[in-house]
Amino acid sequence: MITPCASVQATASKGIGDVLLDPRTSFVECLETILVAELADQESWAALVRAAEALGESSLTQKITRAQQTEVEHLTKVRGWLEAADQARTKVARSTR
Ligand SMILES: [Fe+2]
Repeated sequence: MITPCASVQATASKGIGDVLLDPRTSFVECLETILVAELADQESWAALVRAAEALGESSLTQKITRAQQTEVEHLTKVRGWLEAADQARTKVARSTR
């Protein structure tokens, strides 16, 4: 059974997949789209942490917090790749002046 919330998430995520699979999408545009997914992940994990804390489930909260930390690493990596792409783009723009 899919909950209404999961259905909304699936529909929203479909757009991300559509962008990634579109052959007109550049690599940097894919990274920007992945950033959207990672930011959504952050919010979802934070909501799960709050829910687990509200239930007083300390063991579950710890497990979810570890998963959230992994997502923080993903977000950091994607932001770093986008920053590197931006720097490369700037370098190319300066060299062609
Ligand atoms: Fe992630």
